[in-house]
Amino acid sequence: MTAILEARDVKKHFRIGGGLFGKAALVRAVDGVSLSITSGETFAIVGESGCGKSTLARVLMRLLDPTEGEVVFDGTAVTHASGRTLADLRRNMQFIFQDPFSSLNPRMTVGKLIGEPLEIHAPQLSAKDRHAKVADLLAQVGLRREHAGRYPHEFSGGQRQRIGIARALASGPRLIIGDEPVSALDVSVQAQVINLLSDLGRDLGLTLILIAHDLAVIRHMSDRVAVMYLGKIVEQGTTDALFEAPRHPYTRALLDAIPDPDDRNRAGRPQIDGEMPSPAAPPPGCAFHTRCAHATDRCRKVVPVPDETSDGHMTACHHWRDIVDAPRQPFPLNRSAATKARLDLYRKATEGAKITQIAQPKPDREEMR
Ligand SMILES: Nc1ncnc2c1ncn2[C@@H]1O[C@H](COP(=O)(O)OP(=O)(O)O)[C@@H](O)[C@H]1O
Ligand code: SF4
Ligand SMILES: [Mg+2]
Repeated sequence: MTAILEARDVKKHFRIGGGLFGKAALVRAVDGVSLSITSGETFAIVGESGCGKSTLARVLMRLLDPTEGEVVFDGTAVTHASGRTLADLRRNMQFIFQDPFSSLNPRMTVGKLIGEPLEIHAPQLSAKDRHAKVADLLAQVGLRREHAGRYPHEFSGGQRQRIGIARALASGPRLIIGDEPVSALDVSVQAQVINLLSDLGRDLGLTLILIAHDLAVIRHMSDRVAVMYLGKIVEQGTTDALFEAPRHPYTRALLDAIPDPDDRNRAGRPQIDGEMPSPAAPPPGCAFHTRCAHATDRCRKVVPVPDETSDGHMTACHHWRDIVDAPRQPFPLNRSAATKARLDLYRKATEGAKITQIAQPKPDREEMR
């Protein structure tokens, strides 16, 4: 299996403050991430808000320069690319933004929005061929040719995200990074957009990196998952392994925190205790120790070294082996009731909601159902 994208000990630190108003601080947004993404796979990155997901995504795409470390796309060093090489990388790696409301220029028609990357990356196309290509791209994302003449505000959130996807596809990328591409959308529409991305990924042989703060979103479409906490990957493995046999206390807590779709059990639902500490002052030792029920003295002093088993499942926790073997888990079977309900909702919403069946998207209305 070939790696299409590799990150080697990537760090991104931001220096903040230090002017007239306060002390300078170093925000360790990404603090030593190594990843190897296989060509054609869907790789998910999950973690609470503020753990460094977006910063990592931006460094991977060279929208930000890393403070340390290296990113390599298909043998080319992303970190040092410039000129023609950087232009090629931009064409091959595309971004889908979290917020379909602000990521599309309101003054451009949908045709122009999707045609713009074609003008840049395929300047040889005649205007006629470009229009035809825009119509193809619209069809690919479940929209109609006529939509090309309309403006983003005429569309619902889900449709706007489809426009964002068509725009990302226009340059013929090999890899797409979706930064929480559905978190601003209604749950039923989330499943449709996830379904669309999943189908496109398969049909076009794309590599997808999907960022989410909600594990339920990625369950049915990702091959592997990396869980991030305070700028580091704390667990990484196949999606099945992570959902069926999570090892890191943080992953387990995240699974427990998947909300009940009806929200009836909100009060009784286990939560992760406390707040994530600031990445400007990460706790010493294991950064999760301030919230971990299993923390020991060693955890408070020594940074856990990533421990990878032969199946490629990596866990950065001193005690995961003891925790996994403990007879009584803090995550008893009934914990999955809420998880199951949520996952069932996704499954149901995804079944029978195949994108090709949505023949008549309705602009100006609420989301498609
Ligand atoms: N340009 C920046 N300057 C200073 N701090 C930043 C900047 N961008 C992000 N951060 C900080 O880095 C941390 C990680 O942010 P981010 O990558 O957006 O996390 P996530 O996408 O997981 O929510 C946060 O504490 C955030 O405030
Ligand atoms: S290393 Fe210690 S504090 Fe960190 S997750 Fe493992 S048990 Fe908890
Ligand atoms: Mg983010």
